Amino acid sequence: MTVRPETGRLSGKVALIVGAARGIGKGIAQRFAEEGARLVLADTEIEVGRATASELDAAFIGTDISLLADVEAAVALALAHHGRLDVIVQNAGIYPWQLLENTSPDDWDRVMAVNLRGSFNAARAALVPMKAQRRGRMLFTSSITGPHVTSPGHGHYSATKAGINGLIRSAALEFAGYGITVNGVEPGNILTEGMELHRGAAFIKNMEDAIPLGRLGSPRDVANAFLFLASDDASYITGTTIVVDGGQLLPEGSDFRLAPP
Ligand SMILES: NC(=O)c1ccc[n+]([C@@H]2O[C@H](COP(=O)([O-])OP(=O)(O)OC[C@H]3O[C@@H](n4cnc5c(N)ncnc54)[C@H](O)[C@@H]3O)[C@@H](O)[C@H]2O)c1
Repeated sequence: MTVRPETGRLSGKVALIVGAARGIGKGIAQRFAEEGARLVLADTEIEVGRATASELDAAFIGTDISLLADVEAAVALALAHHGRLDVIVQNAGIYPWQLLENTSPDDWDRVMAVNLRGSFNAARAALVPMKAQRRGRMLFTSSITGPHVTSPGHGHYSATKAGINGLIRSAALEFAGYGITVNGVEPGNILTEGMELHRGAAFIKNMEDAIPLGRLGSPRDVANAFLFLASDDASYITGTTIVVDGGQLLPEGSDFRLAPP
């Protein structure tokens, strides 16, 4: 038997990644590019997005995930460039820190519009070509925050990420007959520009102390799980999520580093 080196796991596959200018989305784009994917990147941040795309020899389109027409245009660009769409990653998300008592209905709606309606928009827009191809991978960035745990200031955000997990399961069931799988990744605390901007040093230190593996995750840690779900290795997996959190969900108490007396 010849053992071949493990490369090109997405060779020839066309992937659209939304929320790809920086942070986790950029990490996914880099990892997919290393494995041979042909990429279309989409983001509201035009300049940074273009720079990321040019580093990776990818196409770029300015896209607000909360608008269905924008996501349809991004899908159309992938089809125009490459003639098909194998993978969509809906990673765009916002996480403003806000206590519920200070959250206005408009604040609430904005987080819903980007994180949750945006995920619905991605599924709706990608369904059209994927259904015609009888094949496709829909992937979403969820979170441990919402589906499993939370902390003060994460009310709207937690609701959207728990909602995304429900969407993943429903879409997986509805689209299985078309040969489309639907899955997600639940990152723990990942060191990104957004995390530094919205959470700050004290929050990050607190999280570091809560992670059994002793460090925040990197975008690449998360991207490796997306790579698996996008690859042929995951062809029989649908309707589920992978936790990538350095063990943060495990401890029963805060003294988890101590041995019993
Ligand atoms: N960083 C973490 O610890 C962590 C943990 C769990 C889940 N997540 C999720 O991972 C995803 C990425 O987070 P990150 O930390 O890399 O954030 P980030 O702010 O560094 O990057 C997010 C990217 O999404 C883009 N974006 C924001 N709103 C958009 C919109 N309406 N349409 C299109 N693009 C938009 C931003 O411009 C940016 O490029 C989010 O869904 C977030 O909720 C992050």
